[in-house]
Amino acid sequence: MIVCSCNVLSDRDVQDTLGHRNDRPSVAAVFRHMGCEAKCGRCVRSIVAIVDQHAARGMDECAGNGDCDGCRADGLAA
Ligand code: FES
Repeated sequence: MIVCSCNVLSDRDVQDTLGHRNDRPSVAAVFRHMGCEAKCGRCVRSIVAIVDQHAARGMDECAGNGDCDGCRADGLAA
């Protein structure tokens, strides 16, 4: 499904860009990785939702070895 009509980016393009990252990149960083930039901004909410889903999935797969955002957040809270 196309999520950014200005740059003709699909949800799959965004997911592929996120790859195996354990961080939660900004929308601007996602665009930079894909070699483009936001134009009208209508897609921002959709891209944020994809980034959030990706980050949540990463936390579900956390091995508890301190490498992910969830582990680092736990360390900061302690
Ligand atoms: S729809 Fe993505 S910048 Fe316009």
